[in-house]
Order: sequence, then structure tokens, then C-alpha cells
Amino acid sequence: MKSRVIYCTKTGHSRKIARAIAQELQVQAEDIKTGPVLKDVDLLFIVGGIYAGKSDPAMLGYINNIDGSMVRKAALVTSCASKKQKQGMLRELLESKQIEVVADEFLCQGSFLFVGLGRPNKADLSHAIAYATRVVAEVQKQIEN
Ligand SMILES: Cc1cc2nc3c(=O)[nH]c(=O)nc-3n(C[C@H](O)[C@H](O)[C@H](O)COP(=O)(O)O)c2cc1C
Repeated sequence: MKSRVIYCTKTGHSRKIARAIAQELQVQAEDIKTGPVLKDVDLLFIVGGIYAGKSDPAMLGYINNIDGSMVRKAALVTSCASKKQKQGMLRELLESKQIEVVADEFLCQGSFLFVGLGRPNKADLSHAIAYATRVVAEVQKQIEN
């Protein structure tokens, strides 16, 4: 099964999370700014933050330009200070390209000004890794059946 991990970041949190997940899956975390080309991806982890309630426009733009037939399934990993806001627009965009999105989105505590100082921390990264490992196992099972 082919998994890829892409991220977009303004302050480095998503990079940290993406690298932790990628290391566990023995792949590279790829910054969308480098324009990763996606091909025959079974599971795409998309890691990004929330800014003024939304995903980074750069992430939305990147996903808008991908070929939906090259990605079987996507999983959203979201870093935000509130630990409440999901990447709804990104989910809709992926689904509009017929890319199935894992229902369970991982919300990771980020930080902004005085909220969530020091987050994501080691425990947050462990939780992100546990989420990714579980999703990989679920998708692997679906592919086999
Ligand atoms: C300009 C700006 C706007 C933000 N707006 C929100 C927001 O609306 N809701 C929220 O929960 N966090 C908000 N945050 C916090 C970020 O989502 C959080 O710091 C996240 O971890 C950033 O990820 P990154 O370091 O990968 O860019 C904002 C941060 C910045 C810098």
C-alpha cells in the first residue's frame, strides 16, 4: 500500500506533525510548496493548520490542482489553537474530486499567541502517530477485502 504525507505550514507545527507521521510510515513528509506530484497514492495524509477559521489558501489551491484519480483516499490532520476547527472546505474539495476522505479527522493542539504554548508537544505527536497507524491499518484492510 502506498501512503504519502503532505503538509502546508505557516509556523512549523504542521511540518512537525507531518514529519512524525512520515517517519513512522517510513516515507518523506513533503511540503506542498515543493509541488509534490501525486501518483497511484492509496492513502494521502494531509497536514495543515487553521487560519481565520479556514485551511491555508495555498493548501486549497494545491488540492484544487491535483488529479483526483491519482489518490484513492485522504486523511486530514489539522493543527489549530482551538483544537475544534476542522478543514471542512478541504474535505469538500477532495470529495468533489471523488477522493474519499476518512471520516475521522485528527485535530492536534497547536498554538497561537498565548494559547497552547509549546504545542504540539511530544504527546501530541504520539497521538498523531497513533491516528495515522490506525488509519493505515483500516485502509489496508479495505484494500485487501
Ligand atoms: C494568522 C493566524 C490565524 C489563526 N487563526 C486560527 C483560527 O481561526 N482558529 C484556530 O483554532 N487557530 C488559529 N490559528 C492558530 C493556528 O491554527 C495554529 O498555530 C496551527 O498550529 C498553525 O499551524 P502551522 O504552524 O502548521 O502553520 C491561527 C494562527 C495564525 C498565525
